[in-house]
Amino acid sequence: RRIAILISGRGSNMVSLIEAASAADFPADIALVLSNRPDAGGLERARQAGIEALSIDHKAYSTRESFEEALDAALSERGIDFICLAGFMRVLTPWFVERWAGRMVNIHPSLLPLFRGTHTHQRALEEGVLVHGCTVHFVVPELDAGPIVAQAVVPVVPGDTEDTLATRVLAQEHTLYPQALRLICEGRARLDGGKVVFADVW
Ligand code: GRF
Repeated sequence: RRIAILISGRGSNMVSLIEAASAADFPADIALVLSNRPDAGGLERARQAGIEALSIDHKAYSTRESFEEALDAALSERGIDFICLAGFMRVLTPWFVERWAGRMVNIHPSLLPLFRGTHTHQRALEEGVLVHGCTVHFVVPELDAGPIVAQAVVPVVPGDTEDTLATRVLAQEHTLYPQALRLICEGRARLDGGKVVFADVW
């Protein structure tokens, strides 16, 4: 598979995917990093790792659709067949999502279906949950609602702030996302009738 990672910011999950994929036995190549923000720190980190890094500034397009057409064209030109969203902060239209159905995953910093959307750590603290975590899921048109591929759990501990909790979750994201991508690329986790079917995992 030829994978593109879509980012908007620092790209720490992107780095963990690139590092994992550099192993000789990893079943996919990271062929492109694409950001909707030209100033995303992750772009430079991708280039340093020898990966093509491209920015397509959404502000240069008057509609969501025209931005996504440019995105889609850049992906097809490079023969990309799978997308990992990693801190990509644009909501994608049903058109784009359907086009990449079963071929696009996201990492979300909560135990879905709890805390869809933003500010997940703050909301977890407000709710007083004692466990929190992260989720890798296939992308469907409804935000953060797609079939779940993998989750990791962390404790919420007394004295936690948004930052300490985010840091604990992020450390788990960095191992979870490469594991989930490997499962998918080895055909051990696949979408079937809107659900994820696992094989040779447990
Ligand atoms: C991560 O917490 C990810 O779960 C969320 O956005 C953050 C991106 O961080 N979707 P990074 O850019 O990968 O460092």
